[in-house]
Amino acid sequence: MHSVDPTTESMIRSVLAYAENRLRLNPVPLDRGSRDPAELDAALQGLLGPGPHNPDQVLGVYTSVVAPAVISADSPRFLGFIPAAPTKAALLFDMLVSCASIQGISWLEAAGAIHAENQVLRLIADRAGMPASAGGCFVSGGSAGNLSALVVAREVAKRKAGPASSVGRRWRVAVSEDAHSSITNTLRICEMDPLIVRAEDHRLTGVGLRAAIEADGDPASIAAVVATSGTTNAGIIDDLAGVAAVAREYTLWFHVDGAYGGAGLFAPSVRSKYDGIEHADSFIVDPHKWLFAPFDCAALLYREPSIARSVHTQDASYLDVIHDTPGEWNPTDYAYHLTRRARGLPLWFSLSVYGVDAYSEAIEAAIRLAHLTADEIGRRDNLELIREPELGVVLFRRRGWDSAQYNRWADQLLTDQVAFIPPSAWDGETVARFAFLHPETSMDLVIQILDRMN
Ligand SMILES: Cc1ncc(COP(=O)(O)O)c(C=O)c1O
Repeated sequence: MHSVDPTTESMIRSVLAYAENRLRLNPVPLDRGSRDPAELDAALQGLLGPGPHNPDQVLGVYTSVVAPAVISADSPRFLGFIPAAPTKAALLFDMLVSCASIQGISWLEAAGAIHAENQVLRLIADRAGMPASAGGCFVSGGSAGNLSALVVAREVAKRKAGPASSVGRRWRVAVSEDAHSSITNTLRICEMDPLIVRAEDHRLTGVGLRAAIEADGDPASIAAVVATSGTTNAGIIDDLAGVAAVAREYTLWFHVDGAYGGAGLFAPSVRSKYDGIEHADSFIVDPHKWLFAPFDCAALLYREPSIARSVHTQDASYLDVIHDTPGEWNPTDYAYHLTRRARGLPLWFSLSVYGVDAYSEAIEAAIRLAHLTADEIGRRDNLELIREPELGVVLFRRRGWDSAQYNRWADQLLTDQVAFIPPSAWDGETVARFAFLHPETSMDLVIQILDRMN
């Protein structure tokens, strides 16, 4: 299994040939996700057992059964949820990271990889206007980033309150109803409660936050506020400057969830909407979303990383050695993880190869397409735009349709391999939603999709 024998040679040829072909797909086809489990069971039967199999036979099952049963999130026709669109350079380098088993736990073991990752984190921090002290690490996704950041926020609140007043206290976090589900999940895991702030027009504002705090019976139990820089469902950027000011006044931890929309920091046309993000105590953005990295990759930044380190550092005799030299940067100290792959490296490689301007242009392409789509919807009598797009998401309704009709429309588009565009909901109503992210999604495709609503 670990030596280079004829089986290894044959696998190198066939697996790399498959990977090469996949990389050369232009465009990537959509494929289908959902399959009958019995059908999948039958196709995979007997492969996992005590004995070996010919690698080409196993790869054949993968290519003929497993791969086609996965919708390609990196297809320009994938327009649901939040898509992915990793660059070719990032995909290639991801293979290298895997082949070389590059981990990124501690400076002692992986200084080179960590230094390159940290340069990317610095680039993002600079775009956000965070201070020179800012730093953090890459984690697996926005959920992991939100969890790691809010654990720090809770700890800071406890320390501020002191042991006497924090015993048995239930901490709370101010959020709007449009915050991502991973925030609710984090609060549940951390045994904290949400303080729901009424958000005018789905946008959390400083005014709304202040009103909620002033009306609250127990403001001392509020540990943090979470603002979103690009809500998942509608791409709305909260009033970051207003929220930051109120957070400062009440000494709340200010966390910004930019898992989806944080990439807009690189788009000059929308950069001003993010004003105030520079005050964040913690901030996340998922490069596996709109910064064109492969799964799974989220950047987690803290304004003062030493605080995060004091919360997340794992203490064990066998780990003392990685903490022996003060000043060395150990990514493991900045989130709840220990072992981690150096998942920031594909982004570092790709940014270096193409240059940051190419990223800005690719992000702008999705924003432009969202505006063109909104204009097109406005020209059609049977359609109605729900709100002007801020980023790459467009919400709209087909007048007169019920949810069954939206579902039939979406199912047929997938069956015909035109697009993956599952319906969403807005204020309780089923609606249609484009999530643009791939720079090669075309207006022609949009028109084809809209025409099918006639
Ligand atoms: C605003 C926001 N936060 C958090 C997440 C969770 O990120 P992940 O799926 O990478 O865990 C998402 C995912 O879509 C998101 O849009």
